[in-house]
Amino acid sequence: MKIIMLGAPGAGKGTQAKKIAAKYDIPHISTGDIFRANIKNGTELGKKAKTYMDQGLLVPDELVVDLVVDRVNQEDCSNGYVLDGFPRTIPQAEALDKALADLGQKMDYAIDVDVPDENIVNRMGGRRACVGCGATYHLVFAPTKEEGICDTCGKELILRDDDKPETVQKRLNVYHEQTQPLIEYYSKAGILKTVDGTVDMNDVFQAIVDILGE
Ligand code: AP5
Ligand code: MG
Repeated sequence: MKIIMLGAPGAGKGTQAKKIAAKYDIPHISTGDIFRANIKNGTELGKKAKTYMDQGLLVPDELVVDLVVDRVNQEDCSNGYVLDGFPRTIPQAEALDKALADLGQKMDYAIDVDVPDENIVNRMGGRRACVGCGATYHLVFAPTKEEGICDTCGKELILRDDDKPETVQKRLNVYHEQTQPLIEYYSKAGILKTVDGTVDMNDVFQAIVDILGE
């Protein structure tokens, strides 16, 4: 099962992609997580990506496409995968379709997690990410047992650099300009499914399971 998660920054793509990956036993591939890991490790890719990410801009397509195409060709992706944060532009979607077509494959589902901008700005200020394992929490909607400490690995939680309010607004603008056109792209391809992302995260997941099957 090959799945793309669509949705604005903070819509809950990562939250739902992790649940999908666990339930259906397929890899969760988040381009944002891959870039953040590269930044943490000080790689060349990380240095390049950071200059764009900190401004709320997209990393150029040529830095993203080969990375994802290589990743989905790995052995553990043979039964499918869930892509989170990719594709994010029409050229990325076209490059993915072409790479899959060359292998005689195609995407099965594009799931749009639909959340209006007003809700997003509130959510992002409350998100906290673990510096150790990258787990994501929310001060109100997904709190840790002990404040500021990751439930999974015990390391410290931080506010992501790009979750500051002025950068969130910029990311939303970039989303509407460059990523939202993908909704029509996948609708035309006949694989678009939309779920209401404003409800409780477990109810969002149930709506996704209803689409993908038990
Ligand atoms: P990326 O890491 O992908 O960020 P994003 O798309 O902006 O999305 P987020 O991770 O911020 O949100 P999410 O939808 O995963 O929400 P989450 O589940 O965490 O990308 C970062 C940057 O990398 C980009 O800006 C760009 O520069 C670059 N980049 C990445 N991919 C790229 C690409 N393909 N091309 C070019 N550049 C690229 O949830 C958010 C919060 O809400 C959490 O705290 C969560 O606990 C909470 N929450 C989730 N669901 C609910 C719910 N139902 N109710 C209440 N709270 C909820
Ligand atoms: Mg995410």
